[in-house]
Amino acid sequence: MTRVLLLNGPNLGRLGVREPEIYGSTTLAELLESAVGWGERLGLEVDGRQTDDESELVSWLHEAVDTRSHVVLNPAAFTHYSYAMRDAAAQVTDVGLLLVEVHLSNPAARESFRHTSVVAAVATGTVAGFGTDSYRLALEAVAARL
Ligand code: DQA
Repeated sequence: MTRVLLLNGPNLGRLGVREPEIYGSTTLAELLESAVGWGERLGLEVDGRQTDDESELVSWLHEAVDTRSHVVLNPAAFTHYSYAMRDAAAQVTDVGLLLVEVHLSNPAARESFRHTSVVAAVATGTVAGFGTDSYRLALEAVAARL
């Protein structure tokens, strides 16, 4: 089965309690469980992870390259300023793997600092603003491109 690393950045471990009016009431554990099910139906083996640590996220992107895994990435706040993560994400798409940037909210409709994504230009594409459905749509996009 095609492997997909579903990577989540800082504070996403707080889903369910963090600003539910923006991010919804689904916990990360529930979201990752749903994502495994969506993946199974699409023929994708989804390995979902979350970290608050930039270096760990960078190392997981390196792992995606080394294991030839596609990536669905919610970089959370790293989206807006982490050039280290951006450079690691670029290595994923440089070798021909897919990398879909996802966001639960629509950053373009929020504070101005969220309008910049340093990852978008090296991603295959972006899905934002559909809550947990952003992840389902991102997995569907990966499956459609295989
Ligand atoms: C987010 C949007 C980011 O601006 C924010 O820092 C997050 C979550 C989203 O999924 O909507 O932590 O990536």
